[in-house]
Amino acid sequence: MSQLELFAERASARSTTNFVTNMKLPVHRWYRYSAGYSAQWAERVILAELGESGRVLDPFVGSGTTMLAAQAVGSKSVGVESQPFVAAVARSKLNWSTSIRAFREANSAVLSYARARPVSISGFGSEPPLLQKCYSAENLGSLRLLQAAIRESEAEESVRGLQWLALMAILRPASHVGTAQWQYVLPNKSKARVINPIDGFGVQCETMAADMAHLQSTIANSPMAMLVEDDIRSMSTELPVCDFVLTSPPYANNYDYADATRLEMTFLGDVSSWADLRPIRDVLVHSCTQHMSGYDGEAALESEHLDCIRRELQAAYWQLDNVRQDRGGRKAYHLMVVGYFLSMAYAMKAIRKSLVSNGKACFVVGDSAPYGVHIPVEKWLGCLALAAGFNSYSFEKIRDRNTKWKNRKHRVPLHEGHLWVD
Ligand SMILES: C[S@@+](CC[C@H](N)C(=O)[O-])C[C@H]1O[C@@H](n2cnc3c(N)ncnc32)[C@H](O)[C@@H]1O
Repeated sequence: MSQLELFAERASARSTTNFVTNMKLPVHRWYRYSAGYSAQWAERVILAELGESGRVLDPFVGSGTTMLAAQAVGSKSVGVESQPFVAAVARSKLNWSTSIRAFREANSAVLSYARARPVSISGFGSEPPLLQKCYSAENLGSLRLLQAAIRESEAEESVRGLQWLALMAILRPASHVGTAQWQYVLPNKSKARVINPIDGFGVQCETMAADMAHLQSTIANSPMAMLVEDDIRSMSTELPVCDFVLTSPPYANNYDYADATRLEMTFLGDVSSWADLRPIRDVLVHSCTQHMSGYDGEAALESEHLDCIRRELQAAYWQLDNVRQDRGGRKAYHLMVVGYFLSMAYAMKAIRKSLVSNGKACFVVGDSAPYGVHIPVEKWLGCLALAAGFNSYSFEKIRDRNTKWKNRKHRVPLHEGHLWVD
């Protein structure tokens, strides 16, 4: 089951590990991040494990759910995210305590700027092909006007960060092709409803201002929240010592966290070709076959960091390498799986290092079965946690997955749950 299918299944199951309920919650709803988990569940766990004192770490912070949940219950937090666009989303959401008056004034200025100028469609032909596929010339012209207005604004940085997020949040609703939030772009599908970018920007900013007012009236002193854009496997910044870890690492499920925001990054001019995704993929945990070109799986298997799971991992590696010979796509799942566990071995060590000696961690994880070969993710991550210096682990299953087999590529029953590490 692909990670996209997993997100869809989670959404329909309304489980505590999905982001759908967050779309009704102040601030969380500013950007739909299907890879995220439930904020209300995160608040409950942080309260139970940490209380108001102490600091929670999320080494795979994504859109910042853990950090916002920590603020809601009065706890300090540290978050690490290596995908630059996703880190910017989380950073902008953490700006909710900015002056609402300054935000509204800046929004009026942006809207006046955009409404006062004719939408230019003459530059459409020189826009990147992906954008030409996804937008009408008018809508892309309007989005460019909003972007220019924000760029030229003299508002303070936190206000501009919020406006940037408002613009990012309307990018997909302003496209007429299949761009369901946080999915790869589907240029051959069309959408029933397409928003007018300038009106949509105004509505999005007003939603954000209302949420800011709500949070500012309910959270008196917003607790410290430190977000670091870095690769947890090889941190260049020393993290403060934390008391508890709550996180959801990427799953070994072939979901490409770099490609997933290609539309946004192309609009921003950060990427213009597949090659530009490479440096982003390089800072991500290996969880996708697209990330594996040139990867030396056999050398990775020899790494001392994999000692505790090598025998079983090696068997899965060779089985996957065998199975793929008969498959059309010949996907390099064997490399992905080794890369994934080696990445997670480094991550476990960094996590252990940033926790107090009696610290505890909760990982939301799911197993996987590429080409039908079962990978016992929670067991192997548990072993890597012990190798990193933790004392014990246990797995609490939350739900079964892949039980409806119609149209499924394989019929291996899977599950998802919480890996608790002490
Ligand atoms: C499952 S998502 C986390 C979602 C998050 N719980 C939320 O609610 O928004 C995993 C995140 O880990 C990030 N990630 C992947 N590799 C990373 C690395 N090496 N260091 C830090 N973050 C990484 C991905 O970009 C992705 O945003």
